[in-house]
Amino acid sequence: MKILFYMPHANAGAWLQDFARALPDADLREWQPGDRAPADFAVVWRPPRELFEGRTDLRAVFNLGAGVDAILALEHANPGTLPRQAQLVRLEDSGMAPQMAEYVTHAVLRYMRRFDEYGCQQIERRWHELDPHPRATFTVGVLGLGVLGAHVAKTLASFGLPVRGYSRGVKQIEGVTTYAGEAQRDGFLDGVKVLVNLLPHTPDTRDVLNARTFSKLAKGAYLVNVARGGHLVEQDLLDALEQGQLAGATLDVFREEPLPPDHPFWREPRITVTPHISAVTLREDSVVQVSRKIQAMMRGEPVTGVIDLARGY
Ligand code: NAP
Ligand code: GLV
Repeated sequence: MKILFYMPHANAGAWLQDFARALPDADLREWQPGDRAPADFAVVWRPPRELFEGRTDLRAVFNLGAGVDAILALEHANPGTLPRQAQLVRLEDSGMAPQMAEYVTHAVLRYMRRFDEYGCQQIERRWHELDPHPRATFTVGVLGLGVLGAHVAKTLASFGLPVRGYSRGVKQIEGVTTYAGEAQRDGFLDGVKVLVNLLPHTPDTRDVLNARTFSKLAKGAYLVNVARGGHLVEQDLLDALEQGQLAGATLDVFREEPLPPDHPFWREPRITVTPHISAVTLREDSVVQVSRKIQAMMRGEPVTGVIDLARGY
């Protein structure tokens, strides 16, 4: 079987070596512009449209990330970009869930235990005990209860915090109060102290972190956005900070990445910026997962993680 690989800024040699070990019979190559030679599978991250041109032989496209929004944006801009016969398959956890849980837990506990404020006090050599946030009302709301959101919600619940979760379909997660669908969205948001976003970026979820959403949260709530920059209406966040409706935010993803040097988020002390690293693609885990799925497809078996193109995730 012939496999194309494309991942900008990655060590392609190391990826191809690992895939060669996992799939010894495969004919593997890194895609280069102009490459129109046949391929059965494509393993890609943020591919250019040209990679898909004329690929009537492609059986599946494996996305080297959980979110497929970049590929679906190509399809949206130029319908027919994705070969009709090819399934689009995403990474499912593959080592990202523990990373996401660490990142979000750190952000939540840092705000809850007021570590930023103690950091400021240390600069002033000030010894002053701050009132703790009452645990019983320190409600964390997780938007999206998929592979990553469910793991994050369970991890936060293990600290004894009141945790809510929101998804499209009804879910049951031990220790988490769940809400589903538009009709329950306001109930989910009502009085939340920390809002964590782990939704996929789709036409239904774009701009979901907006002034209306913030207005439903507890006064002085905190935002953690680890999904996509397109979920957040940036000016609404700055306004909510200004008005005191939000106390701060930890942001890992942005509308424009890298975040431009003159962007106001860099200068806002209540915003913590990280460069899209909350859960990175791990080569070893990803090669194992993708290789197993390729082998299953070769045997004619179904695989999980196939994207529903109409739903967008
Ligand atoms: P997933 O398993 O597909 O889960 C998506 C969740 O969102 C599901 O619970 C789904 O509900 C819910 N959802 C989707 N559309 C909705 C809507 N309109 N209203 C309410 N709920 C909706 O995805 P995942 O693997 O957890 O990943 C989530 C996202 O995290 C990715 O799409 C990606 O953008 C982001 N991510 C970021 C990083 C990073 O480093 N910053 C790393 C990895 C992933 P149902 O369960 O009912 O379908
Ligand atoms: C990273 O952002 C991913 O979607 O895996």
